[in-house]
Amino acid sequence: MRYDKSEFLIQTIVPEDEIIISRTDLNGIITYANETFAQISGYQVEELIGKSHNILRHPDMPKILFEHMWKTLKSGKMWQGYVKNMRKDGGYYWVYAEVSGVYKENILVEYKSMRSPVSLEVIEKMQKAYDKIKLKQKDKIRVIQYLSYDEYLEIT
Ligand SMILES: Cc1cc2nc3c(=O)[nH]c(=O)nc-3n(C[C@H](O)[C@H](O)[C@H](O)COP(=O)(O)O)c2cc1C
Repeated sequence: MRYDKSEFLIQTIVPEDEIIISRTDLNGIITYANETFAQISGYQVEELIGKSHNILRHPDMPKILFEHMWKTLKSGKMWQGYVKNMRKDGGYYWVYAEVSGVYKENILVEYKSMRSPVSLEVIEKMQKAYDKIKLKQKDKIRVIQYLSYDEYLEIT
């Protein structure tokens, strides 16, 4: 079980000098992942290849954001935004992502994504913004918002 421990509360910080890169086919199946992507997400590169990119989907992310991402991509534009991803161990990490099409001789053949770190201030702001969207959309909302260190010790 993913949620039987408290790992889902643990944030992995993306180092400033690292860029997470992946490519997918037109259905969002991962065709390439760099070593940094594997390290930050807690998977092996080989485990990621061939999987749907939603393997990283965090339940705190509003559905509508990904719907917007796919609509934007299908209209031939680049999508940019903040994404909270779930690690293999249930922990999480935030990235600023740029997702766009890969064209060969003017034909869309794949999608690519490059992701960079996000400051803690922006993470806090975006988490609140996404909670609001989820509430508005009557999407499931987060149960745990913020834990004090003492509360954290109590549940671990
Ligand atoms: C190149 C590319 C990169 C993506 N990166 C992520 C990602 O880092 N995290 C994520 O949750 N979804 C990512 N997605 C979107 C997923 O394919 C998927 O739409 C999303 O996780 C929501 O899952 P669902 O479509 O099954 O509802 C990416 C899609 C593409 C095309």
